[in-house]
Amino acid sequence: MSIQRSLQKQKPVTVNTLKSLAATGKKIVSLTCYDYTTAKILDQLDAVDLLLVGDSLAMTVLGHPDTLSVTVDEMLHHVKAVSRACGRAFLVADMPFMSYHTSCDQAIQNAGRFIQEGRAKAVKLEGASAQVCTVITQLTQMGIPVMGHLGLTPQLVNTLGGFTLQGKTVDSAQSLLGQAKKLESAGVFAIVLEMMPTEVAALITAQLSVPTIGIGAGNKCSGQILVIDDLLGRYQAFTPRFVRQYADLSQSITQAVQQYASDLQSGDFPNAKESFAFETPDALKVLQPACALS
Ligand code: KIV
Repeated sequence: MSIQRSLQKQKPVTVNTLKSLAATGKKIVSLTCYDYTTAKILDQLDAVDLLLVGDSLAMTVLGHPDTLSVTVDEMLHHVKAVSRACGRAFLVADMPFMSYHTSCDQAIQNAGRFIQEGRAKAVKLEGASAQVCTVITQLTQMGIPVMGHLGLTPQLVNTLGGFTLQGKTVDSAQSLLGQAKKLESAGVFAIVLEMMPTEVAALITAQLSVPTIGIGAGNKCSGQILVIDDLLGRYQAFTPRFVRQYADLSQSITQAVQQYASDLQSGDFPNAKESFAFETPDALKVLQPACALS
């Protein structure tokens, strides 16, 4: 892509763009993102349609063992940073654990903050319980687009017994299809399908009118999403089997910082070009005795 093209202002992606991409069979390219600098790089590409400030940042950015501890305020901090860089990509804010569970009012207030303060275009909620579906209906009716999330829903890690494959049996596959239909009726504009067999995700995708975004759910979804730190090889705690790692940033960072430390110790860094010379060398004659005294 030419620089000219990447600097051109791209038309912002909307829920309608996502729908028509799915309708025409063009894959919806999605990634998680948590900071301004990365978002700027991703947004300038014509290639990324959707950015999710996922609650996975609890693990990849904040170092928690799961996604349960991150708060609305912490999420908002990152949503604001990403939205400052986001001109083209459709920005979705993940609603963290317990931010939409205690009442509809609480869910509406928190979702509203992501839209008003964070400037996200939509929010994402996990699951399809009756309560979650009621919240989704209310949010969509008041103009907040909602993305659903089914299959492995990490906020239920303690109930599911780990980050494990879902929809393995006929019963559980049928249950996932039923949940997807409930989310569609509640008004979601898209659904993330995480860690389920390809056939189950394909069935759900075929039966719905809204796009599906897969992660560990095979290649039949309307689009895919990956955690950016997995794709770039930056998160080291573990890499799920479904990840394709396109770079090894942790290795690049290690090498770069080792070289920096070594250049510093050898006196190679900083060199003259990386330093500033005093503008009036004659004044050194005055300064040097003064320095000697201090
Ligand atoms: O939090 C997250 O990053 C997510 C994606 C994996 C879909 O929910």
